Amino acid sequence: MVSVYLGVFMAVLGIESSAHTLGIGIADHGRIVANVKRMYDVGDRGMIPSKVADFHAKNIGRLMKEALQHCGLGIGDIDAIGYTKGPGIGSCLRIGQLAALALSERYRLPLYDVNHAVAHIEITKHMFGLSDPLVLYVSGGNSQILAIEEEPYRHYHVYGETFDIGVGNMLDSFARSARLDPAWGSTVAKVAEGGSYVELPYTVKGMDFTFTGLLTSAMKALKTRDLKDVAYSLQETAFSMLCEATERALLLKGKKELILCGGVAQSKRLREMLDIMAASHNAKFCVAPNEFNADNGAMIALVAEKMLEAGVKARIERCTINQKYRIDSVRIEW
Ligand code: FE2
Repeated sequence: MVSVYLGVFMAVLGIESSAHTLGIGIADHGRIVANVKRMYDVGDRGMIPSKVADFHAKNIGRLMKEALQHCGLGIGDIDAIGYTKGPGIGSCLRIGQLAALALSERYRLPLYDVNHAVAHIEITKHMFGLSDPLVLYVSGGNSQILAIEEEPYRHYHVYGETFDIGVGNMLDSFARSARLDPAWGSTVAKVAEGGSYVELPYTVKGMDFTFTGLLTSAMKALKTRDLKDVAYSLQETAFSMLCEATERALLLKGKKELILCGGVAQSKRLREMLDIMAASHNAKFCVAPNEFNADNGAMIALVAEKMLEAGVKARIERCTINQKYRIDSVRIEW
């Protein structure tokens, strides 16, 4: 991990609670010194927002203690707090925000609102020392192709995205309809091993894509075809769509660095396909370890630290939650 020690100790604590993972991380000059998490067990019923929020509320105190103990710090050693403002599930985001507000108020610490997608991207950029990569961000609720644009303000511009559901939720819905075990994305990958291709709809419009038609067709195909073949075809089709759209953006923007991040970046097959595509254009392809593609508090701490170092004024009135917090509305001030 890239670390620049500036000679002055500074610890920033980050709270992630946007979905079923509750994470607490601590960053110290770009070094991740703690990253602990607890995950709500979604079972086979999916996420029930109020139950997940209860889980986060019950666990946040002890998880914070665990994070501090991990790096031998006390709460008095923390210099700033960051929390996930969105996007995410409202009741879950609220638990992280309230804990952050309480800590900030009690210990008079500056408080920073962090966009979840920005955090996934920034921790990957930071680890590989990249300054201006093209990004494929893929998670349950999101699938976007992004890169920094300077106008009208410095932000992550969305070059392409899903017109309907995120690729992760698409894989989860398919797995549930096929009555597969939870940990759905990886279960689909396991079932798909050795499958044969069944034709399914492939929808890419420029750098945008849609997944619901593909999902519906795959669910229908389950009635007549082997699960293994349908799972294989679904995965190959969805990931090929993402690859095609990303390749178009890579060439259009003339980028020489590509990063893959977000929960679905843990997929070996998607990594493999993008790696081949990037290599064919002499572009460097980077993916962070799974610990940082799964939701985590370290990435929130890291971005809050970047905001603090960039001199972003911590303003309590902007420390709200926003379930649909668009990445392109965030000013990147570092
Ligand atoms: Fe995430």
